[in-house]
Amino acid sequence: MSNFWSAWIIVLTVLTLAGNAWVLLANRKTVSRGPDTTTGHNYDGIEEYDNPLPAWWFWSFVLLFLFSIGYLIAYPGLGSFKGLLGWTQVNQLEKELAAAQERYGPIFDRYAAMPIEEVAQDPQARQMGQRLFANNCSQCHGVDARGSFGFPNLTDNDWLWGSSPEQIRQTITHGRQGVMPGWESVLGNKGVVDVTAYVLSLSGREAPAGDINAGEQAYKTVCATCHGPEGKGDIAFGAPNLTDDIWLYGSSPAWIQQTVRYGRNNVMPAFGENLEPAKIHLLVAYVWGLSNLDAKETASR
Ligand code: HEC
Ligand code: HEC
Repeated sequence: MSNFWSAWIIVLTVLTLAGNAWVLLANRKTVSRGPDTTTGHNYDGIEEYDNPLPAWWFWSFVLLFLFSIGYLIAYPGLGSFKGLLGWTQVNQLEKELAAAQERYGPIFDRYAAMPIEEVAQDPQARQMGQRLFANNCSQCHGVDARGSFGFPNLTDNDWLWGSSPEQIRQTITHGRQGVMPGWESVLGNKGVVDVTAYVLSLSGREAPAGDINAGEQAYKTVCATCHGPEGKGDIAFGAPNLTDDIWLYGSSPAWIQQTVRYGRNNVMPAFGENLEPAKIHLLVAYVWGLSNLDAKETASR
C-alpha cells in the first residue's frame, strides 16, 4: 500500500472519530427542563419528550470512544501503522500452531514410534486417523472409504498399488498415477470388441459379442505387459486385476470397451508436502486397518 492511501485512511478514520465525538458532545444536555417538556415534535399525536440521554448511555459512548483510540494505538487499524503490540494474523496463527504442537505433539510422536499393525488396533489412533481421512481423503474416496467410479474402494482386499503398510505409505506420501493407453488405433473396433470378450471371460463372464480366441491373442501381445499373463494385475503399473469382480470403472462390456478404446489416466495426489510424517503414519494405519483388521474388531469400534 502506498503512503498516500495509508495517510488517506488515517485521516478518514480520525475525522470519523472526531465527528462522532462532536455529535455526542454537541448534543449533550444534562439538565431536564421539567418532566413533561417535549421537543415540540408531533407525529400523528405521538410526542417526543425532551430528556437528557441517560448517564450510563452517555458514559458507555465515551468509554467506547476511548477504547477505540486505545485499540488503534495498540493494534493495526490506522492505515499501515502496525500498532504498538506488533500483533499480526500470522503470528497469532503461529502461536496457536505452536500451542497445538505442544498439546498434540507427544500423542503423534508416541504413535509415530509404534508399528502400523499396533497403531491400527488403537482406538484413539483410529479415531484420529478417521478425522484426518474425513478432512483430506473423503472427498474422493468417500466418508466410508468405499470409493466410487474411478476412485478405488479402500476397504476391500483389492489393491492397485500394493497392500503393505510401506506401499500404502508410499501411495499417500508420493501419490500415484494410473495410466493406461488407449488401444483403438492399434486394435481397431473388432480388436477392441474381441479383447473385451476375452477380459470378460477372465472373470468367468460371458461376452455378448466378440471372438474370445482372437481377443486372447491381442491380450497376450498388448495387455499382458501390464495386467500380467493371467490378468491378475501388476502393482508396478497400478494395473488392476481383471479376474475378480471388483471394477474401478464399472463392469459392463460397454465400460470395459470404453477403457480399452480410449485408455485411462487417474491421479492420486501426493500428500507428503501437506501432511507431516506423523499424520501420514496415522492415515496409513487407518487405511491398512480398513481391510486388515478382522471384521468383528472393526465393527466394534
Ligand atoms: C483428488 C482425489 C483424491 C484424494 C483427495 C485422495 N485420493 Fe487416494 N486415490 C485417488 C485416486 C484417483 C486413486 C487411484 C489411482 C489409480 O488409479 O492408480 C487413489 C488411490 C489411493 C490408494 C491406493 C489404492 C490401491 O488400490 O492401491 C490409497 C491407499 C489412497 N488413495 C489413499 C488416500 C488417502 C489416505 C487419502 C487422503 C490423505 C487420499 N487417498 C486422497 C484419488 C484421491
Ligand atoms: C501400460 C500398461 C497397460 C497396458 C499395456 C494396458 N493396461 Fe489396462 N490398465 C492399466 C492401468 C494402470 C489401469 C488402471 C487405470 C487407472 O488407475 O485409472 C488399467 C485399467 C484397465 C481396465 C479397467 C479395470 C477396472 O477395474 O475398471 C481394463 C478393463 C483394462 N485396463 C484392460 C486392458 C486391456 C484389455 C489392455 C490391452 C488391450 C490393457 N488394459 C492394456 C495399464 C495398462
